[in-house]
Amino acid sequence: MVLIGIIPFFTFALGTWQLKRLKWKVNLIDELEEKLQLQPISLPRKINLSVIPDFVFRKVVLRGTWDHSHTIILTPRVREGIHGVHIVTPLVRQNGTTILVDRGFVSKENASSPALQQELGEVEVLGMLRTSQSRNLFTPDNKPEDGKWYWTDVDAMADYVGGEQNDVQPVFVEQIFEAETRLKKGIPIGRPATVDLRNAHLSYVITW
Ligand SMILES: *[C@@H]1O[C@H](CO)[C@@H](O)[C@H](O)[C@H]1NC(C)=O
Ligand SMILES: *[C@@H]1O[C@H](CO)[C@@H](O)[C@H](O)[C@H]1NC(C)=O
Ligand SMILES: *[C@@H]1O[C@H](CO)[C@@H](O)[C@H](O)[C@H]1NC(C)=O
Repeated sequence: MVLIGIIPFFTFALGTWQLKRLKWKVNLIDELEEKLQLQPISLPRKINLSVIPDFVFRKVVLRGTWDHSHTIILTPRVREGIHGVHIVTPLVRQNGTTILVDRGFVSKENASSPALQQELGEVEVLGMLRTSQSRNLFTPDNKPEDGKWYWTDVDAMADYVGGEQNDVQPVFVEQIFEAETRLKKGIPIGRPATVDLRNAHLSYVITW
């Protein structure tokens, strides 16, 4: 009986706590969406890594050539019910450091399509600055030596691509663009330009 008596208070406390979390998350998403609306910036030749956290979700414009030979394939990824992979290719910036670009989704059957390597000359890339994504309990370890990558570990990826001695910086950009035309050509597709931190706090509030 005592236990049953306590439960309403306990769940009320949980609900209140989730309301606080909801407010915090809404503020955070507003702030990031505002950031995303700002004009794209171009990145300096050598990027000051300690400043990156302040620029996450900012749009950036990059120029350079793809280093297709060091492409990293992130698996497994799903887009609109289709199984596939994400293609991460280093972009060698003219007179600047090399950074990593997640060029987006491609279906499993097209994961080794020659279309992935069809952009050879200098390209201009519009993207969004990101950092390493947290993995959950079920995400396996990356095995770079076997070419198996399951989560974005920016530092490990930069090392794999050549590391500091080859002017590779652990900077990760997700390419942004108009999707459908590319899917049809078998070219990777970037994510939409939105902030998609999971916001489940309202449903927790109601549950509790
Ligand atoms: C990088 O940015 C930090 C913080 O703004 C600054 O303290 C530091 O001097 C910068 N480093 C370089 C090499 O510019
Ligand atoms: C890159 O460097 C070369 C020679 O060092 C120079 O000719 C060229 O204009 C530079 N390009 C840019 C975009 O700064
Ligand atoms: C794979 O690429 C081809 C064109 O190269 C395209 O016709 C096909 O629809 C693509 N497959 C999927 C599942 O997107």
